[in-house]
Amino acid sequence: MLNSVLVHSPATLSNLGCGFDVFGLALAAPYDTIRLTRSPEPGVRIQHLDGYNLPTEATRNVAGVALLMLLQEVPETIGFDVEITKGIKPGSGVGSSAASAVGAVVAANALLGNRFTKMQLVEFAMAGEVVACGARHADNIAPAIFGGFTVVRAVEPVLDIIALPAPPLWVAVVHPQIEVKTSDSRKVLPAAVPLGLAVRQWANVAGLVAGFLTADYNLIGRSLDDYIVEPARLPLIPGLAEARKRALAAGAIGGGISGSGPSIFMLNRTEETARAVGAALGSVFAELGIAFNVYVGPVGTEGARVVAE
Ligand code: HSE
Repeated sequence: MLNSVLVHSPATLSNLGCGFDVFGLALAAPYDTIRLTRSPEPGVRIQHLDGYNLPTEATRNVAGVALLMLLQEVPETIGFDVEITKGIKPGSGVGSSAASAVGAVVAANALLGNRFTKMQLVEFAMAGEVVACGARHADNIAPAIFGGFTVVRAVEPVLDIIALPAPPLWVAVVHPQIEVKTSDSRKVLPAAVPLGLAVRQWANVAGLVAGFLTADYNLIGRSLDDYIVEPARLPLIPGLAEARKRALAAGAIGGGISGSGPSIFMLNRTEETARAVGAALGSVFAELGIAFNVYVGPVGTEGARVVAE
């Protein structure tokens, strides 16, 4: 039985345009690094080895809450000591809280002889999302666990997740340094949707899944558009319309808000295009005088994984 493991848990894009709370895509990097050590002392003790000043009390920490949930299913008297080094900036919209929660439960599962299924790990990690934003959603958790492209078909009454391979894609993400809390960006969403808009949206949802399965990049591009959530969130993200315009001109397939924002993602066929698109995205925020980070990397085929013992 292992005593300690080191796990990398990746950033993820959720929603992917039209698939609010349903679609997710794993990135190869950035990732959070989690060292988990089993202890005979019950409970969860957390240390953050980064400068983000996140809560370390287990019941207020996304990884802590996920581990406490997992421990409820463990008959042995054990606990965990956790060291988290965040490579993903909190609040950036690329699944920062999901990465920590997923990394922790994947590490715990390795220490417990992999007794839990990936679906159970999603359940545990989702408890962390409730702490982070008040909503039990799995669209960042699922790709962080399974890798590739994921569809959360249902969360209730039974979790139903479809994990699909993603075609080779390069992702450009710009993270403008403005604060958009997920809880706030969910408050602006419409409570009801006109049928005509819903039809356009679910046509895109079907088109995007088909595009991913057949590696049809043109179909992916024309199916990404979100007619329901993005229009409501547009006022929260200055520069979004211009960023999309410049990214498409630089060769991007398409993109939109990453999760609940403020990051913006663009999918691309090649690394070269993704780099040009990253620069185009950055130029918008440079002109607006808003500090930003740009990330360019491939889609992640793997989810969180043990990298060392
Ligand atoms: N699907 C969620 C949202 C992701 O858009 O609110 C938040 O991380």
